[in-house]
Amino acid sequence: MPPDHPLRSSYSAVVLVVLLCCWLASGDDKHALLEFKSALTRDPLGLTSSWDPKDPDPCSWHGVTCDSLSRRVTALQLSSRADDTACSLLSLPPSSTTAANGNFSLLFPCLGVNLDALPKLQGKLSPKLAQLSQLTTLSLSFNDLSGELPPEIGQLQSLEVLDLGFNVFHGSIPFALQNSSSLRVINLSGNQLNGTIPAFFHQLRAVRVVALSFNLLSGSIPVEIGDNCGSLEHLLLNGNSLTGSIPLNLGSCRELRSLLLSSNLLQDDVPSTLGNLTNLEVLDLSRNFLILITLAIVFFCLRKFSFCSTSGHGSGVKEVITFNDIGVQLTYENVVKATGGFNIQYCIGSGGFGATYKAEIVPGVMVAVKRLSVGRFQGFEQLSAEIRTLGRVQHPNLVKLIGCHVSESEMFLIYNYLPGGNLEKFIQERSRRAVEWSMLHKIALDIARALAYLHDECVPRVLHRDIKPSNILLDNKFNAYLSDFGLARLLGTSETHATTDVAGTFGYVAPEYAMTCRVSDKADVYSYGVVLLELMSDKKALDPSFSSFGNGFNIVGWACMLLRQGRASEFFMAGLWDSGAHDDLIEILHLGIMCTGETFSSRPSMRQVAQRLKRIQPSIILT
Ligand SMILES: *[C@@H]1O[C@H](CO)[C@@H](O)[C@H](O)[C@H]1NC(C)=O
Ligand SMILES: *[C@@H]1O[C@H](CO)[C@@H](O)[C@H](O)[C@H]1NC(C)=O
Ligand SMILES: *[C@@H]1O[C@H](CO)[C@@H](O)[C@H](O)[C@H]1NC(C)=O
Ligand SMILES: *[C@@H]1O[C@H](CO)[C@@H](O)[C@H](O)[C@H]1NC(C)=O
Ligand SMILES: *[C@@H]1O[C@H](CO)[C@@H](O)[C@H](O)[C@H]1NC(C)=O
Repeated sequence: MPPDHPLRSSYSAVVLVVLLCCWLASGDDKHALLEFKSALTRDPLGLTSSWDPKDPDPCSWHGVTCDSLSRRVTALQLSSRADDTACSLLSLPPSSTTAANGNFSLLFPCLGVNLDALPKLQGKLSPKLAQLSQLTTLSLSFNDLSGELPPEIGQLQSLEVLDLGFNVFHGSIPFALQNSSSLRVINLSGNQLNGTIPAFFHQLRAVRVVALSFNLLSGSIPVEIGDNCGSLEHLLLNGNSLTGSIPLNLGSCRELRSLLLSSNLLQDDVPSTLGNLTNLEVLDLSRNFLILITLAIVFFCLRKFSFCSTSGHGSGVKEVITFNDIGVQLTYENVVKATGGFNIQYCIGSGGFGATYKAEIVPGVMVAVKRLSVGRFQGFEQLSAEIRTLGRVQHPNLVKLIGCHVSESEMFLIYNYLPGGNLEKFIQERSRRAVEWSMLHKIALDIARALAYLHDECVPRVLHRDIKPSNILLDNKFNAYLSDFGLARLLGTSETHATTDVAGTFGYVAPEYAMTCRVSDKADVYSYGVVLLELMSDKKALDPSFSSFGNGFNIVGWACMLLRQGRASEFFMAGLWDSGAHDDLIEILHLGIMCTGETFSSRPSMRQVAQRLKRIQPSIILT
């Protein structure tokens, strides 16, 4: 018998070895998956119930994906929330996120879904998962997995997507992850990870997404990120306790599309190098200790104001443009003089856009002058055109824009002066005076009308974007006036979609606006709803007393909770409930909750809100 051709024999040996390898390997994979399953303590949804040890091939198991040729496991996806509510969870602002304590029922207070009731995987992550050497995707988000992240994950050389977001993992982020050099997405948001962000970015060259939001991370942002971020598109570090300053070299991450650093303890100046990030779509640096002046300059850079041509514009003539006659001529000189040269002594308030000064132009004629503190103004002709548009926006419940001065070096807006202070002060001080239900109702209605006008009757429509009690002013008869409308757009957030303190205030911004900067009239409705809830209760949007409910629990969650538990009467400020009009009060509470609905399409329009408020006729008066 002729021996086998030597070539043929080695060929069959190779085939045999390859087949054997595959078989062995998938045997290993099966073993690793079963180890993973056994490390789980609960699987109430039965996500792994199809994982039968007797089954030779794990590739048909639920949540397991294999390579069709090698039959090796390439993905493990057992997110308990594979539907799109996951997105709405991530789009929540820090203010309503309680992910850190794993209590999701408060996250969707108004959806009618109690996520607490949805069962999830519990247990630890088995280090044996590291045997899945072909694994490219590990997605176990929105479960109750706990324990520390096993450093063995770093042995997954093929891993591209690591998504363990919204579990209850604690401990530190394993430095060993740097060995998973194929990683494109690292998503560990919404856990209880502490310690510092490892400086492992040198190795992770392919990484596109780093999402570590809503953890307990401390220390500074490693500068190594900026050294090696050629592919980085999303860097989400918001909702931690990061300190130090923003690394200068983040400005070299040219592909960066979102940079969320809000709700940390970052300080110092915002590096102007961020102005180099021309692909940036979302920038949120709010809730830090940063100096925002540079930030404004950064925005102006990002707005791409065709930037160097100032020729001819700075004519030196300091002019005040007036839109409304107040019977006294307004000049640059007499306005500035009446504020004592913007003397702090005349300052009556300050906000994201700058300080407001009281100015008595001639005896008995008062105006309020808002001096905008955004550095030097380029493209100011365009700005002044936009301000002129705002000057035409007039309604009995809007603060009247009387005039403005806009030049390259200075910009201020002149408004009518309202002696009653703002609603924030009113709310703070009302316990000390008799507040009538009818008065609260009138304030709510006034503001609803002003907003309905801005949204429905103005062409083009005006979105306010920063509704909060301090932007609602009162006269001596407690008529309410909305102020600061249109400034968010005017001052450069419309094109970059960037949010900062200048475009929305923590506690009042709608979830979708906070995270995706999706601007709509319904974001205003949300903020209005928060103000309405504050107005009726003794609680602030982010009342200190909510801290026992977990990080960021807000007035919306509180209102829903009380309503759900049949304790609505406890919601209202002292005395209001006892005064009688229960049906009306409950209706207002419902209205506030509808306005702050999680999904923006579920919120009523401001016109509908105004109509509903009008139907409620307060009759009972508190004494
Ligand atoms: C979640 O919050 C609810 C309040 O709505 C509370 O009753 C419940 O005990 C909390 N669950 C956990 C696990 O903290
Ligand atoms: C990374 O992998 C190398 C070998 O490939 C190993 O020596 C090293 O210990 C690993 N690093 C970590 C942090 O696990
Ligand atoms: C992070 O993971 C969550 C949960 O899977 C997902 O909804 C979110 O889009 C991810 N974030 C990023 C930036 O990839
Ligand atoms: C991180 O949290 C663990 C408890 O989960 C604690 O033992 C450890 O000291 C913490 N580390 C840091 C750096 O805060
Ligand atoms: C980045 O921004 C800084 C400061 O704004 C500037 O000096 C530098 O030239 C910019 N770098 C590039 C590469 O454009």
